[in-house]
Amino acid sequence: MKTVKIAILGHGNVGGGLCEILQMNRQLIEERIERKIHVSYILVNNVTKERPWPTLGAKLTDSFDEIVNDNSIEIVIEALGGIEPAASYMRSALEAGKHVVTANKAALAANYPALLEKAQENNRQLLFEASVGGGIPALTAISNPLQGNEFTEVMGILNGTTNYILSKMWDEGLSYDEVLADAQAKGFAEADPTADVEGIDAANKLSILMALAFHVYVHPEKIPTEGISKITLKDIENAKKHGEKIKLIGHGYWEADENGQEILKYHVKPMKFTSEHPIFGVDNEYNAIYINGNAVGQLMFYGSGAGPLPTGSAVLGDLLSIARSL
Ligand code: NDP
Ligand code: HSE
Repeated sequence: MKTVKIAILGHGNVGGGLCEILQMNRQLIEERIERKIHVSYILVNNVTKERPWPTLGAKLTDSFDEIVNDNSIEIVIEALGGIEPAASYMRSALEAGKHVVTANKAALAANYPALLEKAQENNRQLLFEASVGGGIPALTAISNPLQGNEFTEVMGILNGTTNYILSKMWDEGLSYDEVLADAQAKGFAEADPTADVEGIDAANKLSILMALAFHVYVHPEKIPTEGISKITLKDIENAKKHGEKIKLIGHGYWEADENGQEILKYHVKPMKFTSEHPIFGVDNEYNAIYINGNAVGQLMFYGSGAGPLPTGSAVLGDLLSIARSL
């Protein structure tokens, strides 16, 4: 059986979750893809730190050069977070002839055209299912079984942390700060949770979703974005009195202007929903991604939008699809 050697950049929630699944499901994975997966390196900041996740016999290193210069590494998994150095590492890995899988929507959304071009130039795959919707396989669905559709709209709850915070405030009357700490402890939040609560993470994901669904790239900084940091327990209680829930929504859609020309509109902002709307029932760290295609009609994907194992599952799916193709 061929052995595929890989390196994982990052051993936090996502890199660690991936290692946990590789350990838990190793036998069935290797039987299914008829390849052995060997994790040669894990890149971290601090090689001496005690780690809650398995390291699978990999060498822990703080040197990306060691990884990129090792010709035996065929696939690099990027799960560092932040735009740099993550984007540069992905570029270098592709230039060195390695396939790349990333969960990092910030680095991807900010550099989407350049990274895709780099992958194409080097005839390597760049896969990123985990970057939007955690464990939900919506991106693969849009790019494969649904690729024959013209999409008119993408909309959804794209951030697990904020949905978790809003749900706990509504259900249990807990304060914003208490729940944010809980979301961080559960591994849903970004290293800097400002990106979650200010809607920046949802804007990154909307940028990627629109690029795939509409073939139009909008830099995330160009997306009008409002987060949930100004929402108080009083706002939540008022909404509850009216039978409403507040959800942070990312929305991209085509709308005709006064001359009948279709214009792409987009925003991230908190919105209210009543129980008649399917979004109302999407709680905690769960995400929902709704799309409307001119052939398939309306579809909504629902599932865990954050957390080590759901996200690890999406990363692993991309990894195995590349490994099988080698
Ligand atoms: P964490 O903060 O939990 O982990 C980051 C890891 O990367 C740590 O192991 C850290 O090392 C390492 N690291 C960070 N910067 C560097 C660097 N410059 N050089 C070497 N190592 C570095 O983040 P997450 O695992 O939560 O997130 C990783 C990525 O996945 C992010 O892009 C995030 O947006 C994305 N993502 C996260 C999800 C989630 O639910 N958490 C879901 C979907 C995507 P050390 O351990 O030594 O500190
Ligand atoms: N911080 C992100 C969230 C992780 O809460 O949705 C998943 O992308």
